[in-house]
Amino acid sequence: MRIIDVCPDDEEAIRQAAALLVEGFKEHWPNVWPDMDAALKEAQESLGADRISRVAVDDNGAVLGWIGGIRQYNGNVWEIHPLVVRPDYRGKGIGRALVTDLEDRVRERGGLTIWVGTDDEDNMTTLSGVNLYPNVLEHLAKIRNLRGHPYEFYQKLGFVIV
Ligand SMILES: CC(C)(COP(=O)(O)OP(=O)(O)OC[C@H]1O[C@@H](n2cnc3c(N)ncnc32)[C@H](O)[C@@H]1OP(=O)(O)O)[C@@H](O)C(=O)NCCC(=O)NCCS
Repeated sequence: MRIIDVCPDDEEAIRQAAALLVEGFKEHWPNVWPDMDAALKEAQESLGADRISRVAVDDNGAVLGWIGGIRQYNGNVWEIHPLVVRPDYRGKGIGRALVTDLEDRVRERGGLTIWVGTDDEDNMTTLSGVNLYPNVLEHLAKIRNLRGHPYEFYQKLGFVIV
């Protein structure tokens, strides 16, 4: 497995990355990228000048995972958007490798902070469907992962919930 830039001319890699989005988010976040049109639009946007777009590929060039970064706050801050690993390749370190690679690319560009937003719309954690106010931090401190929400993946990589 190696991690490379998404080449704007590589229509097949772009199509495979987009297909991963539809497949990877349909169970818990079905409205985000409901079809290939929405996912292809996202993939095209990820090729913009203020973006980083990297794919993990196998020896045959098949896309196993995709990570995007969006430049914010004059490049001091970058948002991860999106991140997805092919379902049959999860749990093998590809997600970690993609985030580590993005950290290196952001560092090269002078970035200081990386953040990611992640929703919970179907009761994967104790924060779903709950009024978090006014004691937001208390809720965060007591979060429990009920059904494999990816927030724990990010915590393992050093992210903290804010
Ligand atoms: C979240 C996702 C990117 C993780 O990719 P992955 O390749 O399976 O992750 P890795 O194998 O690199 O896992 C790194 C560590 O995080 C842990 N981890 C991965 N997903 C996890 C989850 N959902 N909950 C808890 N821990 C998780 C792994 O067990 C591993 O722990 P270890 O280092 O102690 O062995 C992948 O599951 C995915 O594409 N999910 C669907 C889309 C998604 O949720 N994207 C993120 C939305 S914000």
